[in-house]
Amino acid sequence: MNRQTAENPLKKLDDWDDFVASRYKENKDREEFRKYDPDVNPGVAEFYRLNHALQTVDFVQAMEREYLPLRKEQKTIWEAAEFLNTLVDDSDPDTDLTQIDHLLQTSEAIRNDGHPRWFVLTGFIHDLGKVLCLYGEPQWAVVGDTFPVGCAYSDEIVYSEYFRANPDLQNPLYQEFYGIYEPHCGLENVHMSWGHDEYIYQVTRNYLPEPAHYMLRYHSFYSAHKHGAYRHLMSPHDEEMFQWVQKFNPYDLYSKGAAKPNLPEILPYYQDLIAEYFPAKTQW
Ligand SMILES: [Fe+2]
Ligand SMILES: [Fe+2]
Repeated sequence: MNRQTAENPLKKLDDWDDFVASRYKENKDREEFRKYDPDVNPGVAEFYRLNHALQTVDFVQAMEREYLPLRKEQKTIWEAAEFLNTLVDDSDPDTDLTQIDHLLQTSEAIRNDGHPRWFVLTGFIHDLGKVLCLYGEPQWAVVGDTFPVGCAYSDEIVYSEYFRANPDLQNPLYQEFYGIYEPHCGLENVHMSWGHDEYIYQVTRNYLPEPAHYMLRYHSFYSAHKHGAYRHLMSPHDEEMFQWVQKFNPYDLYSKGAAKPNLPEILPYYQDLIAEYFPAKTQW
């Protein structure tokens, strides 16, 4: 259960995804601009307050040590999807879409546009890292816009004023433009705030082509892929690969309005697709 609590202020995990989708919707109306107002959307604002205050260098490194050895369990991709589906939030009467539905809406939109099979599969798995919630992690350590830690925060990060409560602000090195990094060192050398992107990238990296790595690992890095921030840490290769992150993003943001996927009809396609790229079980 993912009940709304002081530590988990979102009514449901998808409230963050919905907030981001409305933030980047074209021709926003006044009502949608008001979603930034903490009085209008207190759960989302409180979620960002916690995320920005608590995602420190020390926290990120502790999570990397905890999860990146991938020693939790062995699961197939489909088992992981079904596991994620057990995440039941305080329910939303407007929708009966499950986590698997969101994954399939994303991947079906990619498939309908005629993209390669690995791209469709990337759409299907992109949010499986949210199983971190089921491992007991709070919402602010699973979802939210990701950003580099250990260097100055970009003003392009949403609710950047909440970084004032982050203890890393007291470390002068962490507040320098490059911080603990070298100019253009490449994002693979940068510690990102901890969340579902890094986790699913690490679980699947051996099985998918490099553009998929970027789509998975940086899909929540909105300040970079939507606003052009942090170019000073990116290598020329990162710059080139970010076209794939940008190509992926609209499918993640805008596929939610689609009809509920007909699972029995498309399941055989997805079983074949998963079997084509992944071994029976992968390490989580
Ligand atoms: Fe995501
Ligand atoms: Fe998503």
